[in-house]
Amino acid sequence: MQIITTKQELQATIQACKNVGKTIGLVPTMGALHEGHASLVRRAVSENDVCVVSVFVNPTQFNNKEDLAKYPRNIERDAELLSTIGAHYVFAPTPEEMYTADEMNTTFAFDFAGLDQVMEGKMRPGHFNGVVQVVSRLFYLVQPDKAYFGEKDFQQLAIIHHMVERSSMAGTFGNLKIIDCPIVREASGLALSSRNERLTATEKQTALSISKTLFESLEWAKETGATVAAVQQRVIDTINAVEGLEVEYYEIVDQTTLLPTDTFNHAIGCVTVYCGPVRLIDNIKY
Ligand code: PAF
Repeated sequence: MQIITTKQELQATIQACKNVGKTIGLVPTMGALHEGHASLVRRAVSENDVCVVSVFVNPTQFNNKEDLAKYPRNIERDAELLSTIGAHYVFAPTPEEMYTADEMNTTFAFDFAGLDQVMEGKMRPGHFNGVVQVVSRLFYLVQPDKAYFGEKDFQQLAIIHHMVERSSMAGTFGNLKIIDCPIVREASGLALSSRNERLTATEKQTALSISKTLFESLEWAKETGATVAAVQQRVIDTINAVEGLEVEYYEIVDQTTLLPTDTFNHAIGCVTVYCGPVRLIDNIKY
């Protein structure tokens, strides 16, 4: 496995692969890798000739500087894991290599067709501008055949699909296929996240109530035939009743438009909860 830190070397390497007809799978990450990332990488390795993993804590998608500073970083451990599971190239640039000072300080303009106005987008203004900025740059540099993303960040995934399908960008990324990968959970149900590293043992135990409440709400909805509004409120109340947890939002929305829905058809419930100081997200399809 080779670690690449410059765009120039990355592009030369990609060109050499393309020249001999190799297919390329890309897994964009911000490092602090866990089994969830590993599942994406294993799939990319098995479905492509070459697997590129980017490890880059993208500063432009953090609207909270403290959150950026605290984001866990451990490139040595990440590289070791990636090498064990068969990734071919790791792209780990510095922010200065990725962006000009101007790009770093200007919000990346993009037409989200409203997908950024709800949930994470509403709570973290500018977050998805940074995500689209970095992901479109990675697509441009790597020219992948397939790119792999986890469903835990469901809104991000919906926005990336929109970005690739948008008429003005059609053709820019060739025949790129976005591969949606299911959430990976601990046996306890807790969704794997790099942020879990920041939880104390007690907080981790407390956080189990998040997934437990989501799973129970699915059963409760089926058993009682309750309305979407009632299920939504029940999830919020149940999680807020747990000491140490505070719901920021829980919204049951249509999986494509991300708009509130009053039917469980094609619906997903997306939650963000503060567990102590750590902001955790999870979701469940109804
Ligand atoms: O999901 C993430 O880890 C990041 O948002 C991504 C897609 C790697 C872009 O920085």
